[in-house]
Amino acid sequence: MCGIVAYLGHKQAYPILINGLKRLEYRGYDSAGVALMQENGISLYKCRGKVSELEDYCSDKNTTSTMGIAHTRWATHGEPNDQNAHPHLSEDGKLALIHNGIVENYLVLKQELISRGYKFKSNTDTEVLVHLIQDIYKSEQVTELAEAVRLALLNVVGTYAIAILSADNPDELIVAKKGSPLLIGIGKDDYFVASDGAPIVEYTKRVVYLEDEEVAVLNLNKKLEIKNINSEAKKRAYVQKLELNLEQLEKGGFEHYMLKEIFEQPKAISDSMRGRVNTKKDVVSLGGIIEYEEKMLNAKRFIIAACGTSWHAGLCGEYLFENLVRVPVEVEYASEFRYRNPIINEDDVLIAISQSGETADTIAAVELAKSKGATVIGICNVVGSTLSRLTHAGSYTHAGPEIGVASTKAFTAQVTVLALMALCLARKKGKLSLSKYHQIINDLENIPEKITEILKLNDSIKEIAKYCADKRNAIYLGRGINYPVALEGALKLKEISYIHAEGYPAAEMKHGPIALVDEEMPVIVIATEQETYEKVVSNIQEVIARKGKIISIVSEGDTQVKKMSDFCIEIPRTEELLTPLVASVPLQLLAYHVALLRGCDVDKPRNLAKSVSVE
Ligand code: M6R
Repeated sequence: MCGIVAYLGHKQAYPILINGLKRLEYRGYDSAGVALMQENGISLYKCRGKVSELEDYCSDKNTTSTMGIAHTRWATHGEPNDQNAHPHLSEDGKLALIHNGIVENYLVLKQELISRGYKFKSNTDTEVLVHLIQDIYKSEQVTELAEAVRLALLNVVGTYAIAILSADNPDELIVAKKGSPLLIGIGKDDYFVASDGAPIVEYTKRVVYLEDEEVAVLNLNKKLEIKNINSEAKKRAYVQKLELNLEQLEKGGFEHYMLKEIFEQPKAISDSMRGRVNTKKDVVSLGGIIEYEEKMLNAKRFIIAACGTSWHAGLCGEYLFENLVRVPVEVEYASEFRYRNPIINEDDVLIAISQSGETADTIAAVELAKSKGATVIGICNVVGSTLSRLTHAGSYTHAGPEIGVASTKAFTAQVTVLALMALCLARKKGKLSLSKYHQIINDLENIPEKITEILKLNDSIKEIAKYCADKRNAIYLGRGINYPVALEGALKLKEISYIHAEGYPAAEMKHGPIALVDEEMPVIVIATEQETYEKVVSNIQEVIARKGKIISIVSEGDTQVKKMSDFCIEIPRTEELLTPLVASVPLQLLAYHVALLRGCDVDKPRNLAKSVSVE
């Protein structure tokens, strides 16, 4: 949530900052701004809207500078407007600050600063920080800005990744972080700072991930200096290799990232499985969890904590684990789990699922489970993310960067990893016969090819989208492991097309939602070959009797449901437990085309951000 980028060196900073912001726009896009160090002090340009609007705004401005900070915002405190856009300046105009995170105690701090004569120009929590730093820098006779920053941060309750320019220290950039990601790219003779590797990757692959409560001083004439909030100096910054390629960040000929990512699913799933399945030896081995496999085998219960689409993957995990591993599973919204005083035992294993690895609630759930002595396993897409560093062990999904705000390939890759984990544990616990194991593995290995077949239906799904595009509501139904698919389909539609959509277990219809059904209601039913197929057929009948319009996803060769449907999408057959991997793909395409027909910004839907790093 919010993207920050900064540069200090000998190149022109402005193009680096603007391109960096464009790469970070998935984190927020309601306003943007840049502060540049120039001969006569700090120049500030900011406005409401996307980064392209900031670019237009700056087109006639002097942007010459070799040092600057920039920000793309997802509003928390204060509406998206020019004043609330970052950077924020201190009263004397000598400090400029960008911030990702939330200062939870900002009101108390603000009152105190107001009583000391400070005037606020914005409604943000961030402006408090810049005045506080200035106040300490001046009133407490602190000689170094970094020290003033450190002292100010001691007063902050909440999360932050910040970068600060100071007109009095034109060679120096100060950065700090707690609970929001920040990495420092080390170039040949320059420094880059960003919320993730995307803005940095074309300049350097040498990065330092700043730890929580660390303050770093970047100065071209000195060594990188890192201290923690208690003023203890770090002996040596740990320089790591950035695992990212530039091509992965481009659209590769597709109109939108979302469409590209939908089409990348065969590869993403193959990459998730690569090196993990050994059919000759009849084993699945997930290198990242080997050391904790014993704990997982002895777990009395699995708790899966996640948010949004990752939570839907977690629900699929519940079916996979309970069916194959035969150990109880609870799937929790991370945001609820952390606040309801949950019972967590030492023999519980918490599996945290997150594409970004930066979702604040999921991270808090991990911290809580760890504090209670549970083993914590991560399933995460972004290498080096906060989650991946916080968990005891974990498996990367290896889906490649996902930039479209609507999660697609991350979901199918998460389900793939959950299936592999379940198969690995089920075999080792003796809960799964070798023949069933071979059958599932074989089906799993064929999934990429099956998705390739489904992607060929893109044009016919576009036609179905025409029917849905002017509707106000939609209902998605599924049973068993297709129930989370229904939830995921509904989430996709609502988040990018703004059509109100609900996902339900098909049999729940008659307990309320069926009251909504009339001739204007599209009902999207996942009716693939499964144990409850006949029951789903009855649920479809109930909808037809109320004149609802049926859009069905069926197994290839189905005749019964096909005959009952207004529109029908046939997908290849697979093992029932793996159906989410195939059935979710046409629903992603449907949502994409509906959103496009409604003129929505598919990759940057309103009010959303890709990485939800605030509560
Ligand atoms: O990065 P995470 O997987 O932790 O993100 C969780 C949710 O914010 C995310 O899945 C969100 O629901 C997506 N926009 C769904 O498409």
